[in-house]
Amino acid sequence: MLLPGLWCVMESYGHECGEARTVDAVDKPKVVLGVSGGIAAYKACELLRRLTESGHDVRVVPTDAALHFVGAATWSALSGNPVSTEVWDSVHEVPHVRIGQHADVVVVAPATADMLAKAAHGLADDLLTNTLLTARCPVVFAPAMHTEMWEHPATQENVATLRRRGALVIEPAVGRLTGVDTGKGRFPDPAEIFEYVRRVLARGAAAAAPDLAGKHVVVSAGGTREPLDPVRFLGNRSSGKQGYALARTAAARGARVTLLSANAALPDPAGVDVVRVGTAVQLREAALKAAADADAVVMAAAVADFRPETYATGKIKKKDGQEPAPVALVRNPDILAELSADRPRLGQVVVGFAAETDDVLANGRAKLARKGCDLLVVNEVGERKTFGSEENEAVILGADGSESPVPYGPKEALADRIWDEVVRRVGPTVNAG
Ligand SMILES: Cc1cc2nc3c(=O)[nH]c(=O)nc-3n(C[C@H](O)[C@H](O)[C@H](O)COP(=O)(O)O)c2cc1C
Repeated sequence: MLLPGLWCVMESYGHECGEARTVDAVDKPKVVLGVSGGIAAYKACELLRRLTESGHDVRVVPTDAALHFVGAATWSALSGNPVSTEVWDSVHEVPHVRIGQHADVVVVAPATADMLAKAAHGLADDLLTNTLLTARCPVVFAPAMHTEMWEHPATQENVATLRRRGALVIEPAVGRLTGVDTGKGRFPDPAEIFEYVRRVLARGAAAAAPDLAGKHVVVSAGGTREPLDPVRFLGNRSSGKQGYALARTAAARGARVTLLSANAALPDPAGVDVVRVGTAVQLREAALKAAADADAVVMAAAVADFRPETYATGKIKKKDGQEPAPVALVRNPDILAELSADRPRLGQVVVGFAAETDDVLANGRAKLARKGCDLLVVNEVGERKTFGSEENEAVILGADGSESPVPYGPKEALADRIWDEVVRRVGPTVNAG
């Protein structure tokens, strides 16, 4: 059976629409990878590789400028599909309309300042811009450019326009740019853009109307470390994977995300503003600051209840014939209770986590009441779930008495269920003060 429609229309570019692209290709999610003319075009090769190797049928649509950086042969060989920049090839197949119509997601990576401007204004002077106008699927832009270009009011207004229309525009990363410059505008890690696209595809048609668009969400992840001396600390087993899954899924639902990362050794999710903290006291400070204009705060980090009363500035030494001195502990601030009690915004939703070993639901209900948050995600500590695992299983308890069990599955599935509950509760964005 041949692939219907236009996914493999351009025989003139040497690809045969024959037996090799049969039932398999029909079932594969169809991704259009638009590549515009930025220096980061070479990084899009890795994104393409990840997409094809994970079973996506990818049609690369570069701009003429993009071909100055990476040639059509590379895109065609890596994607296994024909490549064209303009609307005049295989006109009988009307590629300027069909490529967009048949896509499950369109990803423009890198998106130049020029491409954002064209897309915001609906220009259609090449195959990619035509495709953007005909796509009815979710559209993702991964901008990359110099900081000055990114910060220019024209670019910012174009980004705002695209977001208002439902496009997902990934915030660029901060870091090394072309040449010796550093700043905001860097192309995010292709592996993380891939994860972002995977989340968007997982949401299907819902991703075309991002339900967290225009919302600022704060997520904490990882585990605090309370130092005893310059080489030792009291810590916990939290890997940060659940919090990072929450940040990644919120970004793919259109939110502006601040991730408060406590000692997690994980790559920064694409489009997420990562603030690194070490101790509970630092996490409190960062959380209160970020929460000031947040629509929702999800505290997934494991926060130490206690910290050593004193910090030894030199390494505590073992002394012959002497027993170690006991470690005196003091209470850490209760960040979740404080965030729940003093909300800087009306309608702000506060979510806590509880990891329990026994009487899971009863302990969870008691904690929810004690902390005063809106939702509490209770998970049982166990093998293959919670700490360090890729999977989790939980019950989301609501202050309204609701109880939503989430079966064993990827942490991202639990994250999406938590955001579903948040979306249901989050009010219009109104300042409390
Ligand atoms: C070496 C070089 C690197 C460039 N890098 C970028 C970039 O990273 N981001 C950007 O927006 N424009 C960049 N440009 C400018 C674009 O190539 C230029 O605006 C072009 O018209 C974009 O066309 P397109 O949007 O149709 O691909 C670069 C240009 C050159 C010569």
